Amino acid sequence: PPSRSDRYGITQLVFNEADNKDLCDAANKLGREFCIQIKGVVSERQSKNPKMDTGDIEILVKELNVLSQSQTPPFTIEDNTDGGDDIRMKYRYLDLRRPAVRKNLELRHRMCILIRNFLDAQNFMEVETPILIGSTPEGARDFVVPSRMNPGQFYALPQSPQTLKQLLMVAGFDRYFQIAKCFRDEDLRADRQPEFTQIDCEMSFVDQDDVISLFEEMARHLFKEIRGVELPKLEQMTWHDAMRRFGSDKPDLRFGMEFVELKDAFTGKGNFSVFDEAKYIGGICVPGCADYSRKQLNELTDFVKRPQVGAKGLVYIKYNADGTVKSSIDKFYSPEELAEIKTVMGAKDGDLVLILSGDNANKTRIQLCSLRLEMGDRLGLRDKNVFKCLWIIDFPLFEWSDEEQRLMATHHPFTMPNPDDIPLLDEHPEQVRAKAYDFVCNGIEVGGGSLRIHDTQLQEKMFEVLGFTPERAEAQFGFLMNAFKYGAPPHAGLAFGLDRFVSIMAGLDSIRDCIAFPKNNSGRDVMLDAPSELDDLEGGPGNSISSLSIPS
Ligand code: AMO
Repeated sequence: PPSRSDRYGITQLVFNEADNKDLCDAANKLGREFCIQIKGVVSERQSKNPKMDTGDIEILVKELNVLSQSQTPPFTIEDNTDGGDDIRMKYRYLDLRRPAVRKNLELRHRMCILIRNFLDAQNFMEVETPILIGSTPEGARDFVVPSRMNPGQFYALPQSPQTLKQLLMVAGFDRYFQIAKCFRDEDLRADRQPEFTQIDCEMSFVDQDDVISLFEEMARHLFKEIRGVELPKLEQMTWHDAMRRFGSDKPDLRFGMEFVELKDAFTGKGNFSVFDEAKYIGGICVPGCADYSRKQLNELTDFVKRPQVGAKGLVYIKYNADGTVKSSIDKFYSPEELAEIKTVMGAKDGDLVLILSGDNANKTRIQLCSLRLEMGDRLGLRDKNVFKCLWIIDFPLFEWSDEEQRLMATHHPFTMPNPDDIPLLDEHPEQVRAKAYDFVCNGIEVGGGSLRIHDTQLQEKMFEVLGFTPERAEAQFGFLMNAFKYGAPPHAGLAFGLDRFVSIMAGLDSIRDCIAFPKNNSGRDVMLDAPSELDDLEGGPGNSISSLSIPS
């Protein structure tokens, strides 16, 4: 039988030589991936295939029409294909025929339907916002589009519908959502595409707890419907605690190995200058790994020294199962001193303690986070069928940008400061907490949002702290600040990354696998060969762009 399935699976076709020789000859000429039409009689199979939905039946073919022949496909269209990434992306329409890929898009569709129905039942109204908008600073880089009718001027594609949804709140829409395309010209990773989709939401007359509880309910509904998993009431962890305990604002809670701060424990002991001079010393206790070989420990040292992690070295202490201790700092500390560290670490015999130190606490914590995740991977503790979600709250309102040499808004400049911290805005802006929250699942930031400033004066103050002159703030955000002068309601919202949400539900390694036509890691669509040079820069009729000067 020919083995070409459609969306609904494979059905076995039977051609009976004794019945019709010509038909059989025609069937023998069919090749892989031909598109055919048959007429026949459905009958019960003698040898049933319980693994297939259609495994109980077959069709005795009476008539066969070849609707379209197929060349030999460039790779086998099976779940375990022989096609590499590039070739599959070039022939994405063939790749999408593979059940494994199609399944992800079906899941995406189902999630969108569930989300729309859930939000509709909660009185949210879907509103489309424009794709050709103005450039907004303070985010990632914009993609820009030249305007033929306004020579030398450019639209920007939205990085998110943020300001537009706030204007919808001023318009009195009170509960908005949109499954919205967003565009960001940033470096790509497994969970980042230049063009991606948000489940974008905004509500009026709510506080942080209202938003969190409503969208936690939506997440609970999705996990239940899609994966049959009951989410418990989610933990809310402050940004400071997340950094201190896991070195990340998106901790993976599927496993332990929480950080233990060791600066105090090592102070006054031994004579290891690296630890004596460090501002931060942190360790993780890896259960049952005291038997790690020299080779394995060298691999871990190489891992933390990679430029992507950036640590100078790794200290290990093996608390062996037989009660002996072996460490890379044996010559600096006595066995008694190392035994005290064991207590502080809460280590047991058989455990391996891994320690990093440095002069910048948060940088060292981020390095230790990479090591923790690496150990989680090595020990198989990051099971894709386990879902650990939480909220991260109390983000700092600003973060320092080395590149710009100034404070930048951690989320965006419309985020409400914690009212208790407003007096700190002038003297200690770096200590101000934001009324912002992220939804994190399995170490991935799936969504984020905040309460918004709806008061013009406070918004002006924010721009001042961010280093905007009143003129520049007016030029770039005047439309929003003006709108707030007309009875703006208090409002708040959030956006989930749909691609990330689907890929977590589907257990994918990359969001690309749940996007029909994704870009590769260099931001290229290899099937369409985009981006590309334009043929006719000066512009023939009907195919012109008016200007190609790039805005500064
Ligand atoms: P934020 O920038 O945190 O917030 O984005 C919200 C969510 O969108 C997803 N996301 C991405 N997914 C794929 N590729 C990307 N390049 C990418 N960038 C972001 C993430 C992220 O959590 N306007 C605010 C939301 C708000 O405050 O309401 C915003 O865009 O899952």
